[in-house]
Amino acid sequence: MTIFLWQRRAGAEWCHAHEQLLQEMAPGQLAIIHRPGQRRHLAQIFCRRKREAFAFQSRFGGTVEKLPPGWAKQFLLPPPGKPLRVGARLRISAAVQPDSPNDLIIPAAGAFGTGEHATTAMSLRLLEEATRGLSLGWKALDAGTGTGILALAARRFGADSVVGLDDDPRAVAHARANARQNKIRGATFLTRDLLRWKSRQRFDLITANLFSELLISALPIFCHCLTKNGCLILSGILRTQADEVIDSLGKFGFHLEIKRRRGKWVALLATRKSKLKRR
Ligand SMILES: C[S@@+](CC[C@H](N)C(=O)[O-])C[C@H]1O[C@@H](n2cnc3c(N)ncnc32)[C@H](O)[C@@H]1O
Repeated sequence: MTIFLWQRRAGAEWCHAHEQLLQEMAPGQLAIIHRPGQRRHLAQIFCRRKREAFAFQSRFGGTVEKLPPGWAKQFLLPPPGKPLRVGARLRISAAVQPDSPNDLIIPAAGAFGTGEHATTAMSLRLLEEATRGLSLGWKALDAGTGTGILALAARRFGADSVVGLDDDPRAVAHARANARQNKIRGATFLTRDLLRWKSRQRFDLITANLFSELLISALPIFCHCLTKNGCLILSGILRTQADEVIDSLGKFGFHLEIKRRRGKWVALLATRKSKLKRR
């Protein structure tokens, strides 16, 4: 089957303004892809008819591409890599059924994290370390949850409950589906813009794999909803921007505990004052 791909790079505002219309014009076909460290998003629609794809182009700009044979493999189903091991407590894979309570199944959905990206992998490892031996009953927030991978991992690591936020409703739908597939309860996923979100709850641990500017802008929110001895894991920070994020953490009373680097990416673990309460 020949398929045409319409796509357009655009800022978050453009995507926000046009998303509903695009959804209505191509129900279930729209993907808005946001890659860590990149300001612009990529809006994509797979069309069965050439004229449909060109209609999107003439109305919204962007480009149209006739996809090569095997396009589904290339665009939708990246070959499942080896399961990702996170310490001894978690194994993440794209397999269909979990084999053990330590497994987390995150199908590769194209647009959101499967754990293979360095920023997600670093967050997962920091999360595993921070939650080792943590007292029971802790609550977590995952800001910019994508597939829900960090939120669901937090539940596997013993969180009593977890809230995952994303401003992209498709991400929230993916996250909810992943919670169902993994039979994980106690994970609530909400479509919210983090910067406009007002939390009535407090959390013992926050993960946020976003990008530096957004992380800095969200620090007052994190500060407000993190418990006194809480732990903040930030990722998606470009190496060149790490100092700026670390300075801002200091201004909000956070103490940097761990800084990890992988390639051009940095992830940080900070606490409010003292270290997390251990059992
Ligand atoms: C880099 S992905 C991280 C996904 C996942 N947490 C992970 O670690 O793989 C960032 C996510 O944040 C979401 N996001 C970006 N800006 C946001 C905002 N202002 N409020 C809420 N979510 C946002 C994006 O839609 C995307 O799903």
